[in-house]
Amino acid sequence: MIRPTVVAGNWKMHGSRDSARTLARAIVQGVEDDASREVLLCPPFVHLFDVLEETVQSPVQVGAQNVGDQPEGAYTGEVSVAMLAELGCSHVIIGHSERRHVYGEPDELIGRKFALLHQSAQQDLPNAPRAILCVGETLEEREAGRTLDVIHRQLQPVRSFPDAFPRALIAYEPVWAIGTGVAATPDMAQEVHAAIRAHLEQELGAAAQDTVVLYGGSVKAGNASELFAMPDIDGGLIGGASLKADEFLAICQAMRK
Ligand code: PGA
Repeated sequence: MIRPTVVAGNWKMHGSRDSARTLARAIVQGVEDDASREVLLCPPFVHLFDVLEETVQSPVQVGAQNVGDQPEGAYTGEVSVAMLAELGCSHVIIGHSERRHVYGEPDELIGRKFALLHQSAQQDLPNAPRAILCVGETLEEREAGRTLDVIHRQLQPVRSFPDAFPRALIAYEPVWAIGTGVAATPDMAQEVHAAIRAHLEQELGAAAQDTVVLYGGSVKAGNASELFAMPDIDGGLIGGASLKADEFLAICQAMRK
């Protein structure tokens, strides 16, 4: 099996209902229907329904940026796996560095979200969103030579739930590259992606080759092709550059393997 490639837009906390619809519509119009490449949009929760409407009957998939760690109950402000599944979300980002570092989400919480997504998909919700588990080191951790230690720690769900893959995806996003305009060089990114793939191989065996590992952090139309040309980079998780249709579509074009 050749693993698919994925270009995902993480819109973060940007836009209005109108602008979300306009952006989604422009992407639907511009995207090529190419079975080997998946295109995913992750708008804020409150714009999911609008974006799902705009993308209906198109190859563009829609995902959420976060999910609660409990199936249901008195958890003010949280959104459940079942709610996202009912809406039609194909994916959900978990453990994004902004969740980890701005909102203090610990590995254990992210692990519970991963477990719930996996168990839901296996049990009562076969259409539960697929996890996009984000990992990545801070600049301080990189400078201290701890990049792979940090990533191995953040990859605990791989060891706990090996059968969640290749349904689940991984996104390597060095924290120092997110929103800074300073992307990892293709070689730097490939080095970490190869280490992630080796770790997957050790834990998952053959499924490692089928597991999608995205790169994120200052990907733009100008640097996407060289990043995506790397053998272990299977696409991108795009923040700032996903908010402009032309730029995002150019990044999708760059994803050819
Ligand atoms: P960026 O964000 O492309 O704006 O650096 C990437 C991300 O946070 O997923």
